[in-house]
Amino acid sequence: MDKIIVNGGNALYGIVAIGGMKNSALPVIAACVLTKDTCIIDNIPMVSDIKLLLDILAASGAEIRILSSTSVQINCKHMTPCSSPDELASQLRGSSYLLGAELGRFGEARVILPGGCSIGSRPLDFHMKAFEALGAQCSIVNGHLGAEAINGLRGNTIFFDKVSVGATVNAILASVLAEGTTVIENAAREPHIVDLAVFLNACGASITGAGTSVIKVKGVSELHGCRYSIAPDMIEAGTYMVAAATVGGRVTVTNVIPKHLESVTSKLVEAGVNVIVGDNYITVESNGKYNAVNIATQPYPGFPTDMQAQFSTMLCYANGTSRVTDNIFPSRFKFIDELTKTGATASVESNTAVIKGVERTGCAPLTCHDLRAGAAMVIAALRSEGESEITGIDKIERGYVDIVDKFANLGADIRLVRDMVAPTHISATN
Ligand code: EPZ
Repeated sequence: MDKIIVNGGNALYGIVAIGGMKNSALPVIAACVLTKDTCIIDNIPMVSDIKLLLDILAASGAEIRILSSTSVQINCKHMTPCSSPDELASQLRGSSYLLGAELGRFGEARVILPGGCSIGSRPLDFHMKAFEALGAQCSIVNGHLGAEAINGLRGNTIFFDKVSVGATVNAILASVLAEGTTVIENAAREPHIVDLAVFLNACGASITGAGTSVIKVKGVSELHGCRYSIAPDMIEAGTYMVAAATVGGRVTVTNVIPKHLESVTSKLVEAGVNVIVGDNYITVESNGKYNAVNIATQPYPGFPTDMQAQFSTMLCYANGTSRVTDNIFPSRFKFIDELTKTGATASVESNTAVIKGVERTGCAPLTCHDLRAGAAMVIAALRSEGESEITGIDKIERGYVDIVDKFANLGADIRLVRDMVAPTHISATN
């Protein structure tokens, strides 16, 4: 079994160049289905979730060419709908975007109910509501979600009861080629929604309002190809910022858009951590001592749920008691049990973790329960004294490129131990 070994205690010093955002690249790659022309996507993080989605497109007849470690050429002209392989599509949440893309292009779609991080209930009812508002019939049969628009798709108003990133993505994908105008109300405002809209507009779509809670999509007859660069990953950047605050040192994350990280930066400042914000970089300076703060996750621009586990880990060493509430995924606290193995004092009450800061913790064998919890385990091990062994690291590799090398370059005593026997998914697009 592959594992990460960390000897904790080293402060972190240096610069981390942040890559493209996984949660933006997934919708943009799916959106390539909507055109028969060639698209080139740059600044793609070549993590396992991305490789899986590219393999799914290839298996459905798309032509995929890996141009470099961060650029991919995609042509979906000869792609057939409803043909994503179950064994691949069931492994990630991002495969659900093929529903909106294939429905938008072909008028039909069928994908196995997606997998992804085990962070609590992740239904697709909002997605189905969007498709039905546009005139499609949806059904869940044999563990697959199917959607079909026998009379074509017509623009409509879609109101989401709750802000949903995925449902907003799918509403946009399904409506860009529909007849007429679609208005999406209570839409997600995340930077990855803006990235998707900018990409689609560069392909000839007519989308306004992305980044606000009301998005208007005027249907067009067809889309052409384009070349597009993915926005920087705000969660990758936030992860290294919080790691520096927790362990101590001085770390600069570059190639970032500081505005995307305002909620994280302001929480670090509230805790008493020194943060310097530049035009495309953020520097975090810390002696590993800071105050407790309370956090409540919210849709963007609020504090992101994808930063909750990392920040909760940081608060295990704060001066005082913190309360962390996850309003997006109320049961996203499995990692707390792992942290208590190191000597952290934290407990979970409903959707809130109560964390009483301690000065130091000891090493322990740690398991990654999901992608961001995995990053949190690395942060805990970097702070804890002694040698910690982290398993389940395939979950970390779903969303972080070279996390071990990047921390090692900052001075961490960290190494990756590959189990040469364990089977891994060999990407067809390697
Ligand atoms: C996306 O998941 C991200 N995944 C998640 O990141 C992220 O945590 C989440 O957005 C919130 O920001 C990708 O982008 C691939 P939602 P998604 O729909 O779209 C409920 C990571 O670590 N809901 O915004 O699945 C849902 O249960 C991953 O990178 C419904 O009830 O999240 C949740 O409570 C983990 N019905 C809330 O809405 C639906 O049909 C927000 O979920 C859809 C969602």
